[in-house]
Amino acid sequence: MANDSMTITDHRTDKSYEVPVECGTIRAMDLRKIKTSPDDFGLMTYDPAFMNTACCKSSITFIDGDKGILRYRGYDIDDLAENCTYLEVAYLLLCGELPTPEQQNKWVAEITHHTMLHESTKQFMDGFRYDAHPMGMLVSTLAALSTVYPEAKQVLDPEVRQRQIVRIIAKMATLAAYSYRHRLGQPYIYPDNDLSYSENFMNMLWRMTEPKYVASPVLARALDILFILHADHEQNCSSTTMRVVGSAQADPYLACAAAAAALSGPLHGGANEEVLCMLDEIGSAKNIPAYIKRVKQGEIKLMGFGHRVYKNYDPRATIIKQVADQVFEVTGRNQKIDIALELERIALEDDYFVQRKLYPNVDFYSGIIYQAMGFQPEMFTVLFAIPRAAGWLAQWKELMQDPDQKISRPRQIFTGRELRTVQRAGEHENAKNVGRILVHQ
Ligand code: ACO
Repeated sequence: MANDSMTITDHRTDKSYEVPVECGTIRAMDLRKIKTSPDDFGLMTYDPAFMNTACCKSSITFIDGDKGILRYRGYDIDDLAENCTYLEVAYLLLCGELPTPEQQNKWVAEITHHTMLHESTKQFMDGFRYDAHPMGMLVSTLAALSTVYPEAKQVLDPEVRQRQIVRIIAKMATLAAYSYRHRLGQPYIYPDNDLSYSENFMNMLWRMTEPKYVASPVLARALDILFILHADHEQNCSSTTMRVVGSAQADPYLACAAAAAALSGPLHGGANEEVLCMLDEIGSAKNIPAYIKRVKQGEIKLMGFGHRVYKNYDPRATIIKQVADQVFEVTGRNQKIDIALELERIALEDDYFVQRKLYPNVDFYSGIIYQAMGFQPEMFTVLFAIPRAAGWLAQWKELMQDPDQKISRPRQIFTGRELRTVQRAGEHENAKNVGRILVHQ
């Protein structure tokens, strides 16, 4: 018997099966041969919310949730945040290595030259209501880009794929900035090719009548670091969405739109917006104990706390706290940080949070920084989506090159009715007439 295998005994039949174990997993399809009779479908696993299911082999991002480790392609997140730009990290995620100086120049030039939106896309954005949520605008316009680049449907062609990857990473910042300006009723600002990715984003957000936008280097670097921290997080809800939609060979604009829709949920990337609402509701440090009591009674959740994978401090939250201090030196202190710090202190001493291993996640502090920079909470998830596009696309590229992958199509345990037939009035004495179709009691 091979060492890396296990024996499963089915007590329904008293039969034993040897199942190979690879990288700490068994293949769910190996369970299919466990049957009670030749016409039995075979054993399946039941795993709602994918609590214990690996859906792919990936070499992009490594997380050890118990130790609080996050690495992209082998580099610790704090190393990358300290030493790299967002575009270098995006390249790393997509290509597996940090770029050489020549590769970096080429990559930055390509991204810079694809930041413009087609004028018809600009007009498309004009069609949104004046107060449309920016995340709704981003999701819809991302999907609409599929109509601007019809070649994108050639997802099996690596060169076509690469062109769309460049376009999406380049245009995410423009789409985000335009959704911001639209809500303010301000004219859209065209990209400025002299500026870095973050500086140009700030230019498109905040330039008014001045001929050239000059970004605060501290804020531009802070944004770049936040982009690095948010760029990928292995098989999270939105990346999984990207892979599921991508597995049907939908084009990457549509798959990214689906992934962004998943990100918008308050249990995922939408949590950063919810954290600010929560801090507003708490109002002052003296109200924290009463708020924590409501959380423990199960009335509400502490937004920005807890994580499916991290059962230790989220390493991104540690870096974000340091960035917050640098940002506040430019913008002035956001008083909400004091409520957040006190909330964290009280929660981390409380048995409820300690026993459940609930720690602040990336969303707990990011919104406070964004608000200090002048963003409304509605923009926070859009800011998350800009860099996460690099992660989605890296996951998509890996998926498209993986010979193990097929269209995603889970199984179900059917709990509905056995076969029955439609009965008309008068055909069944126990039937109750509802319109013309009968419902049986
Ligand atoms: N506040 C209070 N209790 C919580 C919280 C929270 N934020 N998170 C989890 N718990 C409790 C649950 O009620 C549960 O308690 P129980 O065992 O008594 O029933 C226990 O901790 C385990 O929680 P689950 O919901 O089973 O954990 P799961 O892995 O399914 O959920 C999630 C993870 C969705 C992130 C959850 O912690 C949560 O809702 N947090 C708040 C929203 C948030 O901050 N989301 C951002 C996550 S990071 C990101 O996506 C970018």
